Amino acid sequence: MYLKFGSLFPVLWLLALSSSRIQARKNADSNEFPEDSSELIDPERNSLAPDCPKKCTCNPEGIVDCGGFSLKEFPIDVPELTSHLSLQNNQIEEIFPEELARLYRLETLNLQNNRLTSKGLPEEVFDQLENLNYLYLANNQLTAAPKCLPRTLISADFAANNLTKIYELTFGQKPNLRKLSSLEYLDLSSNNLSQIPSGLPRNIVLLHLEKNAIKSIGRDVLTQIKNLEYLLLHNNKLKARGIHPQAFHGLKKLHTVHLYNNQLEKIPSGLPRRVKTLMILHNQISEINRNDFATTYFMEELNLSYNKITSSQIHREAFRKLRLLKSLDLSGNNLNTMPYGFPKNLLSLKLKVNDISSIPRRTLSGMSKLQELYLSNNKLKVGSIYSGSWQDLTSLKILDIAGNQLTSIPSDLPESLEYLYLQNNKITTVPENAFESTPNIKGIYLRFNKIAFNAVKESTFQRLKHLQVLDIEGNFEFSDPLKNRDHSEEEMEEEEEEEEQEVEE
Ligand SMILES: *[C@@H]1O[C@H](CO)[C@@H](O)[C@H](O)[C@H]1NC(C)=O
Ligand SMILES: *[C@@H]1O[C@H](CO)[C@@H](O)[C@H](O)[C@H]1NC(C)=O
Ligand SMILES: *[C@@H]1O[C@H](CO)[C@@H](O)[C@H](O)[C@H]1NC(C)=O
Repeated sequence: MYLKFGSLFPVLWLLALSSSRIQARKNADSNEFPEDSSELIDPERNSLAPDCPKKCTCNPEGIVDCGGFSLKEFPIDVPELTSHLSLQNNQIEEIFPEELARLYRLETLNLQNNRLTSKGLPEEVFDQLENLNYLYLANNQLTAAPKCLPRTLISADFAANNLTKIYELTFGQKPNLRKLSSLEYLDLSSNNLSQIPSGLPRNIVLLHLEKNAIKSIGRDVLTQIKNLEYLLLHNNKLKARGIHPQAFHGLKKLHTVHLYNNQLEKIPSGLPRRVKTLMILHNQISEINRNDFATTYFMEELNLSYNKITSSQIHREAFRKLRLLKSLDLSGNNLNTMPYGFPKNLLSLKLKVNDISSIPRRTLSGMSKLQELYLSNNKLKVGSIYSGSWQDLTSLKILDIAGNQLTSIPSDLPESLEYLYLQNNKITTVPENAFESTPNIKGIYLRFNKIAFNAVKESTFQRLKHLQVLDIEGNFEFSDPLKNRDHSEEEMEEEEEEEEQEVEE
């Protein structure tokens, strides 16, 4: 999960909503209503209730649950005072306008996972549901969203339909009324939109637009959504030049932006100034220029993994303004040497799966807060790591250099180190003083190296008081030629004996 919620307020209900949606997508029997609602349902009373639709459960609070009965039609006898109506996981294709319009008290309408088409949805009726707060229409076959939705809506879920078009007034109402709109959560993911709909209301906090076919972001489609905090645009067809430099202008609350799995060829210009989390992995980015991050002072987490970035194309000053950056991921790029200019306050730096063959002097200098450094699956040799490299890393707890070409254990490791991953290298010996500088170490992983049986002593580890895991499997059996020879000699001797016996017989 990339989604990290900054404040508690959206967490409570947004999480509740999105988890229920995910459940519905999995065809599970999800229930939109408060968990304790079942306790309110008195089965005897229900069966006696004159106006509860067949198979459904109704309670005096106006909660009607008809979910998961393979209903083919909208039930005709839903009590008029129903406030929460659940019809998810059925096979409803069509809703007659008069049936829905009658339910003027509706606050929640859950129709997710049915077979509704745009033709079967009486769009003119939604306007009349003046109490509707929550509308769930995910997993249907809609090709267009209703032309108008009540401005009382707080949450609208249209995910996993086949929407190609959103009418300008669907969510926006008339421009001068837009501020009445209370919509805070809008899910348009997994549709077939080629553009971000215009006229989205300013109160939206979380906007799901992932898994569409969006190619560009115009100048004015987002800027009026002043309350936007989470913008999810991953798995689209965005190119950097398709994003207008002013597209995020003035979005002061926008802190989480997902742009992964697009076609970005460079960092888009005009990133939101207050962005804290930028997920831009799995694109085609090949360079990081001096001013790409010149205005994003608040960034804390930057994931640039699985792009095409080379070491020489990272400007040495590109990260200079990122004083708050805690986590940087450049794994899966084309780096051939440790780049210069990492932000000094990083806590976590990931550089896995590159072609890094050297750590030059000063590339890690001053990084006294770094706790985790991941360098696995590169081409590092002991001789190509500048010998003072670890010196400034006084907070380092995890060092992962697995899957490189090390022939010995790196020396002068920082005293703070707790976990050292060195598996899948070519290490041949473990000197008795190898861990002298790391008295706090808890885990040493040396699996699949070339350490000979007699090239490691128990006393090396005995003095490490905090050691919990020592993984040194997969070494001796390959590297102990003596043992192999003994074995074959034994076999030969046995065979000889057998032959002798045969001869005797
Ligand atoms: C989506 O709708 C378009 C028409 O707008 C149609 O051509 C296409 O087949 C639909 N796709 C699916 C998967 O229903
Ligand atoms: C997306 O919509 C276009 C028409 O606008 C249609 O041709 C295409 O089949 C749709 N794609 C999917 C996956 O439904
Ligand atoms: C960046 O994204 C990759 C791919 O999903 C993920 O494995 C990695 O943990 C992310 N990095 C960080 C620092 O969260």
